[in-house]
Amino acid sequence: MKEIKIGLLGLGNIGTGTYKVLEMNRDEIEASAGAAVNIVKILEKDIDRERDIDVPREKFVSDPQDIFADPEIDIVIELLGGIEPASTMIEQALRSGKHVVTANKAAVAASYHRLMEAAEEGGVQLRFEASVGGGIPVLTALTGCLRANKFNRVLGIVNGTTNYILDKMTSEGLPYEEVLKDAQAKGFAEADPTADVEGIDAANKLSILMALMFDHYVHPKDIPTKGITEITASDIEDARAKNQLIKLIAYAERMEDGTIKYEVRPMRIIDTHPLSGVHREYNAVFVEGNVVGNLMFYGPGAGPLPTGSAVMGDVLEIIRSQA
Ligand code: HSE
Repeated sequence: MKEIKIGLLGLGNIGTGTYKVLEMNRDEIEASAGAAVNIVKILEKDIDRERDIDVPREKFVSDPQDIFADPEIDIVIELLGGIEPASTMIEQALRSGKHVVTANKAAVAASYHRLMEAAEEGGVQLRFEASVGGGIPVLTALTGCLRANKFNRVLGIVNGTTNYILDKMTSEGLPYEEVLKDAQAKGFAEADPTADVEGIDAANKLSILMALMFDHYVHPKDIPTKGITEITASDIEDARAKNQLIKLIAYAERMEDGTIKYEVRPMRIIDTHPLSGVHREYNAVFVEGNVVGNLMFYGPGAGPLPTGSAVMGDVLEIIRSQA
């Protein structure tokens, strides 16, 4: 049986989840691939960290070139997170002729053209379904079966941490600081929640959505962005009195003159809108296509297994497209 060999960059939470998805669903994945699929090398410094998977020590490498220069490796999965060194490593992998799958929204959004050019020049694919909405298959849908549409608008709840905090402030009438501490204690918010609560993570995801939906790339730093840190319990109560909920929304719209308006900020959503039913850490992307109409993609926007599901889905798309 043919074997597809994968090099994995990063064995943190998402890397571990992806490894686990392959172990859990090996039969389904290999049947779909028509080949054996194996993660053969892993770039990771913290070999001894406690993980709920068994990884043979000989798979670990400390030099990324061990992966990029290995002619037997077909696909590189990048799950390091952050803009650098991840962007440079993705570029090196692509220029070495490896297909790349990543969940890294910060790297894809910040280095979009550089990475797309490297993929084109390397004659390989760069896929990043897991970068927006975690396990929700939104990017493949937008660029695949919805391609016949001209998209007019997107409204996304694309950050689970902030949706969890706003949802809990709404349902329990608690102040922001108290809910943030509770979310950190339960592992729903990072110890340093800045990228989430200031809207930076949502801006990264909006940058990617806009590039794919409107063919209009905007660097995340150029997206007007306001987070949720100033939302008070009385703002939420005031909205509720008007049958509205406050949600952090990544918004972009094609205006009549053809320009694209975009921003990330807390917005009031009428409680009959489908986005108002998105609770806890869940994500949803509401899109308006000129022929399909309105659609909402909903599901788990983060977490090791949902994100690993999207990563392995991209791996299978690559394998199947090469068959
Ligand atoms: N910190 C992100 C969130 C993780 O809260 O949604 C998924 O990108």
